[in-house]
Amino acid sequence: MPPVRDDGPDAGHTILSNGTTALLRIAQPGDADQLQHFVERLSPAATRHRFFSETAPPAEVIRALCDSSHPQRSLTLLALRRQDDALRIIASGSYHARGPHRAEVAMAVDDRLHGLGLGTILLERLALLAIRHGFTKLWAVTHADNLAMREVFATSGFTVEEHLEGGDMEVELSLTPTDQSVRQSEWRERVATTASLRPLFEPHAVAVIGASRSPQSIGYRLLHALDSNGFHGRCYAINPHASQIAGIGAFPSLRVLPEPVDLAVIAVPKDAVLSVVDDCAATGVRALVVITAGFAEVGEEGGRLQAQLLEKVRQHGMRMVGPNCFGILNTDPAVRLNATFTSTFPLAGSIAMSSQSGALGLALLAASERLQLGLSTFVSVGNKADVSVNDLLQYWENDAATNVIILYVESFGNPRRFAQIARRVSRNKPIVVLKAGRTASGKRAAGSHTAALASNDVAVEALFQQTGILRAETLEDMFALAAGLSDQPLPTGNRVGIITNAGGPAILCADACEASGLDVPELSQATISHLASFLPPAAALRNPVDLIASADPEQYALAIAALLKSDDIDALIILYIAVTATDVDPIAEGIKKGILTARATAPVKKPIYIGWMVETDRERRFSFTSETIPTFVLPELPARALGKIAGYVQWRERPAGMVPDFDDLDLSTVTRICRDALAARGEGWLTAAETRTLLSAMSIPLPASGVVTGAEEAALLAEQIGFPVAVKLASHTLVHKTEIGGVHLNLTNKADVRRAYEQIAARLAEDASLDVMEGVLIQPMVKDGVEVMAGMVQDPSFGPLIGFGLGGIHVEILGDVRFRITPLTELDAADLIRSIKGYRLLQGYRGHPPADVDAIQDLLLRLSRLVEEVPEIVELDLNPIFAMPPGQGYQIVDARIRVAGTAARVGR
Ligand code: COA
Repeated sequence: MPPVRDDGPDAGHTILSNGTTALLRIAQPGDADQLQHFVERLSPAATRHRFFSETAPPAEVIRALCDSSHPQRSLTLLALRRQDDALRIIASGSYHARGPHRAEVAMAVDDRLHGLGLGTILLERLALLAIRHGFTKLWAVTHADNLAMREVFATSGFTVEEHLEGGDMEVELSLTPTDQSVRQSEWRERVATTASLRPLFEPHAVAVIGASRSPQSIGYRLLHALDSNGFHGRCYAINPHASQIAGIGAFPSLRVLPEPVDLAVIAVPKDAVLSVVDDCAATGVRALVVITAGFAEVGEEGGRLQAQLLEKVRQHGMRMVGPNCFGILNTDPAVRLNATFTSTFPLAGSIAMSSQSGALGLALLAASERLQLGLSTFVSVGNKADVSVNDLLQYWENDAATNVIILYVESFGNPRRFAQIARRVSRNKPIVVLKAGRTASGKRAAGSHTAALASNDVAVEALFQQTGILRAETLEDMFALAAGLSDQPLPTGNRVGIITNAGGPAILCADACEASGLDVPELSQATISHLASFLPPAAALRNPVDLIASADPEQYALAIAALLKSDDIDALIILYIAVTATDVDPIAEGIKKGILTARATAPVKKPIYIGWMVETDRERRFSFTSETIPTFVLPELPARALGKIAGYVQWRERPAGMVPDFDDLDLSTVTRICRDALAARGEGWLTAAETRTLLSAMSIPLPASGVVTGAEEAALLAEQIGFPVAVKLASHTLVHKTEIGGVHLNLTNKADVRRAYEQIAARLAEDASLDVMEGVLIQPMVKDGVEVMAGMVQDPSFGPLIGFGLGGIHVEILGDVRFRITPLTELDAADLIRSIKGYRLLQGYRGHPPADVDAIQDLLLRLSRLVEEVPEIVELDLNPIFAMPPGQGYQIVDARIRVAGTAARVGR
């Protein structure tokens, strides 16, 4: 497993606007000398701007700056990069508290590195850290002539106010992220990532390091693939033992090359990789493809080596694909880069492809050639130590040559980031993912219903649902989708016409269409009459249109043109099963003629797929100058692909959805409750009283109820609440209270309530191992409404998932619960509610009133906000909730919340 990336605001690497990178981390006392050095190297103007003095500050000020041990008081963030063989500070930014929620911010950037976005990056990260430590405003004083700094504030996207005070400018930033601040930082990251990957895909000169003399070796094959496929730049072999390999000039080291190269492809034995990377850094190489295996994929020691490799790469501001990868390809005719060890060079086209498995990458390339799928770029990402699928998505988003993105994924490095990027990219370019292996969600203690239900693949499924990703189940599916998306127009609706010469395949195809959400409608009378004018009486004319076994080429041509020109369908699937071998070629010609006629005359270009069931002619292609028709040997494949594509079109047409804001939340109370509970009792469930206060701080109402510690008190409270009531053991440890007799329902008088209290107390007294008596909860009995449940559980790699489904006993019997990844947009929440099988119950069923779906949606959005904001909450279960009729909200009957130290929280 590649190491988890650590790119929070306080540590990690960042990409500057010229595509180079820098390391970021919080200053430590040991940085004082370095920081002193840095400030002393600043130009006089920069010193004056940063410190309001002509000279650098004294050592004690620098020492104080390097003490970030009380981030609620002050904190310094450093940007570093390797320069002249040492890791040097290239920028620093600090904040200092100037009030409970207000901090002063100041920063300085190495004079030689101005204009690369470092100031903006520092400000953005300092703002995130300041928010984390309770600040809501940043404040700065700048010289009025410090235009660069003022520009950084002004373009940060935060709400900024400037006042001129005695010749200096006072700037105040409100730290609530605005749509604009989020959008701007996304945009910056996209531009920077694209710039940083350009040397990988468009190098001017490439060196293959470890280009072996042996023609069987990987190094030799890399060099040969690069050279024999018409690479437009220069290529060099690096080998200490040869002066020429495969007819290409070889050099003992990068340091003696006649020119610097921008891309190095590394295939030296693993123990030589680090020193080779040093050479790369010393000679100005910008990008690496590390083919060599033996890193994190082989265990702990390999993992350590990989960490060292990554550190070097990042310190020197380079980008790296791999290690343990099969290489990269760019088919752009102006580049023609084949930096893989297969000499197959794919057709140029609009599909960008990435594979996490090298071997599968080879198969993908071979299949794309066989299926005539045109590729723009291909990347075997290997261990994804540096360049990740998230980076590639951003690159392809901006890449004019790419229209479709295909990913073979085994694991998501940073799924939350993937979700953010994929959601955006999918709006313009479809993303097809074949996800191998189901997420092993780990063994969760089934402490809540939500946790017990959130198993296996739910997080991945939720991710795909929310981001518009087209999920391929098999390799075949993946290619069918790639072909359909790259070669054909998107359907504008989900009505499919089927033309066939045999009934059986057409039925299979029609069934597969229906199963994929497509409609195979009856044709209009006008179309049927037209078909009847040239088809034999035995032909079926309604849809599927069965031309019967005697179908001739002309009948195919006329029927195809007729259906494509009609308004009855949005897409066409043409099926043919060979009757006699001699018919095959003429029928293929007939099909082509029909397509050409329709394309020349039909007002709308509709997608066409072919199921060509001719065992002896499996490689048949229907290619025209302007398009290739995706052709399959099975009738169901085109139906499945078309169904997924139509679903994608629907997703894309929906508005993007917003994460709503609430102005009635008291998050500081929520945080305080969680932290106090953690401090007092450690990890575990909140008490009933804590849960109630926490939920009401989120404006999530609980019915009038209370916890009491005596039988008489219980009876009095029940009377106040109003009969009938439920009496439940208040416990923050026991999950299934019913099983130990801890729940008494429908009590209609004080005597029954007293008795219930005493029975529960006696049961606990009898068996001390169960729990200590904290008291009982008295609640009104809820009468009407649909029983639903909502909750949150942590997926080990995706972070919080919000679950919703039918509640009460239905949860256990039906398991009708679906999940979504946070943060939920209002559309995600609406969609989640509608995605459960039991949604019809919420719409009103057989005289039962419908439920207040709007209130449930509001509840889900508040839960999403709660778990996003308060990382201490690791599990939450509201079950059952009675969804009352419209306008009457919901009644939460049981609520449980588990807290843990924030280290337990993943995916942030
Ligand atoms: N600089 C330049 N060249 C060097 C070098 C260095 N520091 N160290 C070694 N070389 C040269 C060698 O001299 C040799 O050339 P030669 O055969 O002409 O003498 C060449 O590099 C290869 O070295 P060799 O020791 O023969 O290594 P190898 O071929 O056995 O293995 C790898 C190298 C990279 C192929 C191997 O380590 C490996 O990782 N294989 C698996 C790759 C893989 O599967 N990747 C994932 C694919 S999905």
